[in-house]
Formats: sequence, C-alpha cells, structure tokens
Amino acid sequence: MKKITKAVFPVGGMGTRFLPATKSIPKEMLPIIDKPLIQYAVEEAIEAGITTLIFITSASKQAISDHFDPKPLLRKKFVVEGKSHLLDKFDTLPKEITRVFIPQGEPLGLGHAVLQAKEIVGDEYFSVILADDFIKPQADVINATKQLIDASLQYDASVISVEEVPEDRISQYGIVDVNSAQADINCIKTIVEKPSIEEAPSNLGVIGRYVLSPEVFELLENTQSDKGGEIQLTDALAQLLNKPDSLYAATLNGKRYDCGHKLGYVQATIDSALNDPEISVDVSEFIKGL
Ligand code: G1P
Repeated sequence: MKKITKAVFPVGGMGTRFLPATKSIPKEMLPIIDKPLIQYAVEEAIEAGITTLIFITSASKQAISDHFDPKPLLRKKFVVEGKSHLLDKFDTLPKEITRVFIPQGEPLGLGHAVLQAKEIVGDEYFSVILADDFIKPQADVINATKQLIDASLQYDASVISVEEVPEDRISQYGIVDVNSAQADINCIKTIVEKPSIEEAPSNLGVIGRYVLSPEVFELLENTQSDKGGEIQLTDALAQLLNKPDSLYAATLNGKRYDCGHKLGYVQATIDSALNDPEISVDVSEFIKGL
C-alpha cells in the first residue's frame, strides 16, 4: 500500500451552535488560547506525515485560506522592522506542504463534502479530519491521525477513531459495534449514524478522525441523502462493511474535546490554559479563587 499523504478537512459547515461568533468567522477559526482549531488539526496531520491538505470550503470561509497564506510582504515587513521573533507564530505552514481549496457548493453533509475531494485524492488511501473535534496535542502520545495511518497500513483497510461517549450524547455521533473490544484496534461489525439510545449498538462513538480507502468515493456517489437531505459519510462506511475486514475502529489515544459544542470548547480552553507555561499558574490561581 502507498504512503498516506493527503488529508481532507471539511470546513464548509455553518457553525450555527456558535452564532453570533460564527456569523463572520468560520467555526474552525475559533481559537483555543491563541491558535485556531483548524491549525491544531493541520499540525496533527503534518506530524502524521500528511503533505497535501485539502480543504472543502464554503463561500464564507476565506479566513481559513488567509490563515494558511504565507503573506510574503507582511513577512518581509516584520523582518525589516526587527520583529523576526513574530515569524515563529506567523508562519502557519511549512513551505513544502501543498494546500488545495475546493468549494463544497451546497451544504449537503459530511459525505458530500468528502466526495468533493475525489479527483484530488485519486486512487489512494486518505485521511479525513474534523477540526472541531479538538485532540489535545501531547508530545509523548502518538497522535490520532498517525495512529490511524499506521493501523491502515498494517491492516490494509479503512480505520476510524472511536471512544466511549456518554449515553445522553449517543444520538450526536456515528456509533459502531466491534467484534471484540479487547484490543486497541478492532474490526467493525456495524456502524450507524446518530442512533437513538434504544437503537444504538454500543456506546462507541466515531470521533472526527478517519483514514479511508478510495473505494469510499464510489460508495458516497451511490449513498442516498438522509431525511435532512444530507449525504452521511457513516452511511457510505456502512456499505464498506459488505466486504469483510475492510473497516476497523481504533480506540482514541489522548484527550479529545467536542469543540462543536460550547461546553467542550470551554473545557478545551481551560485544559490548554492549565498546560500553557506562560499562564498556567495564574489561570490555576484564578480558577481556585472563583
Ligand atoms: C460527524 C459524523 C459523526 C461523527 C461526528 C464526530 O457528525 O457525521 O458520525 O460521530 O462527526 O464529531 P457532526 O458532528 O458533523 O454532526
């Protein structure tokens, strides 16, 4: 199997849960301390060996391409003004990384967004990263995307991240059932999008990290829209299960926060602040004093 070097970032969503902040700012640009969610996701991808970033955007997401633009004139200005120390923070992407922006056209769901990457990805396994699932960067832990890439190469199959989710959140996730829950990586038996608690096959929720076979594109092309008119990635993955040993679940290593919701976003911010050497002591004192 070829190396996995392309990652798809669906960033076309409306971010309605964060209105009015997301009226003019894409939700992926909301910062955790001083770095936007999308940059954490991109750094995770690059650390995992990804060299081509494919953003599936909508009309109001100009800020994301601006964020990753090298802006050579501004860069030069910093150097001339003796502010070179700012370049560390200013350079958001290594030079050798390729950026591709594809407009989604219509907001027809995650599956539809991923399908837009078909021509650029071609006949290769690829990663999908949902930036609003913030996974805390930890130097001593293999990151989620790298874990999936390694497993995909090992099993020659698609692999997705899962973790146990609380019962009252089951209906907000894709839910899987696995053959055995003993190991970190297990073959998936069933996958269903946002089931009710009664219908859920387990409490193992799909987290926004996937490494997928290019076969998924054809499955997506033949996936019917759901009741809400959206094409769900989960429904295409369910079709993948018709072939044995083609879809695995990897238990997420590390701490993840659902930054698509206010609570997760605040928790991610507090956890990151308590780990930021510049402010951790003061933040800790502040919280104790509340
Ligand atoms: C999407 C997927 C869902 C997955 C979730 C992870 O849902 O459709 O299967 O569990 O991401 O964050 P969304 O959060 O876009 O509604």
